[in-house]
Amino acid sequence: MSQQKITAPKGVSEYTPPRSSAFEHVRDCLIAPASKAGYQLIELPVFEDTELFKRGVGESTDVVSKEMYTFEDRGGRSITLRPEGTAGVMRSVIEHGLDRGQLPVKVWYSGQFFRAERPQAGRYRQFYQVGIEAIGLDDPAIDAEVIAIADAGFKALGLTKYRLELTSLGDAQSRAAHKVDLLKFIATLKLDEATAARAAINPLRLFDDKREEMKKVMADAPLLVNYLSEESREHFETVTKYLTALGVSFQLNPRMVRGLDYYTGTTFEFVHDLLGAQSGIGGGGRYDGLMEQLGGQSLSGIGFGLGVDRALLAAEAEGVIAQEAFVSDLFIIPLGEGTKVQALTIARDLRAKGKRVEIAFGDRALKGAMKGADKSGATFVIVLGESELSSGTVELKEMKTGHSTSVKIDSLFEALNK
Ligand code: HAM
Repeated sequence: MSQQKITAPKGVSEYTPPRSSAFEHVRDCLIAPASKAGYQLIELPVFEDTELFKRGVGESTDVVSKEMYTFEDRGGRSITLRPEGTAGVMRSVIEHGLDRGQLPVKVWYSGQFFRAERPQAGRYRQFYQVGIEAIGLDDPAIDAEVIAIADAGFKALGLTKYRLELTSLGDAQSRAAHKVDLLKFIATLKLDEATAARAAINPLRLFDDKREEMKKVMADAPLLVNYLSEESREHFETVTKYLTALGVSFQLNPRMVRGLDYYTGTTFEFVHDLLGAQSGIGGGGRYDGLMEQLGGQSLSGIGFGLGVDRALLAAEAEGVIAQEAFVSDLFIIPLGEGTKVQALTIARDLRAKGKRVEIAFGDRALKGAMKGADKSGATFVIVLGESELSSGTVELKEMKTGHSTSVKIDSLFEALNK
């Protein structure tokens, strides 16, 4: 009896060959600028104590109130699959006392995150982020550098059709002054119960309401940027000055509300023009009260998370991923048992010098093996038979043009470089 097939859970993103190579390329491009800037890998669990996200991310957020994958483990503890990376990094930095050493603590991460959202193009229940966090300094230069690192990742990928939106949520004093007027404004509105409850925990959330009628009424709401304290204003202006000096273009968006409650001061989002509804390819900002909130000392921090799935969609939409980047330089077809050792050693030596080399295994006839080479997309192919071995010379065939040249086996590396 044939068994029913098992399929992946709804809304998860999966990357299988050949598209997985493009995914890998995107992920590596996005994170490379961080290691060049002295950020070091932090590898964390994908599940944490549920309390971490409740306290860290905030109960007014959709992420915590509706989208967490929470379950009881066998010991009766409440566990949640991480919906984002910053709270976990903070937990780990506090737990291991990294904040007692050299500041800022600078770490990067990459991996799966989980939010039980309604799946659609670019929005998944398991998705991938790369991110960085810089903890312990509130120098505006670090804000500018963090943003520039994210921007450099998108540029390295070749993206051009995106914009950076920027604002400041100010310090506690700025937000308190704004909150007074915002609450007065909200008191004049007729809100349903759920919206009123959200507003009671964090009134800024109402700026994030996607309903047209709410957008309309919120158009008249007082904006936080008009309540920034002298210090916050200066900090933010300095950040924008540095970004301009770095050639990172940005647009001010005083209505931006990030989906997580820990943000303070500089906050930003990267938005891609070709992605439709799920256009946020990355975002981040300062979170100056988070460490204290999680039981640590009072240190500031800033970071970002970039969506690898969406950056891949953006790169495909812009047509900037060259498939040639992922194919082998050379495909070796050994003819007969006696040539396999040489095929293996030639491949090993070329790989040691940085070439991508594949071998046709399995004693296929030449015609079938050639088809395999063609399908692999490899740039060059050689056939290795007894006569090639005795002469020490092979025909190096360029697959695209069909053009062949005689090359000494010992000079294959140089020939591939030509
Ligand atoms: P976030 O804006 O919630 O920030 O997520 C960052 C990025 O992850 C988004 O811009 C988007 O590209 C991607 N993303 C989020 N949810 C999904 C989803 N359901 N499917 C596909 N992609 C998604 C954070 O997570 C913060 N921890 C970033 C940060 C780090 N802030 C400070 N430090």
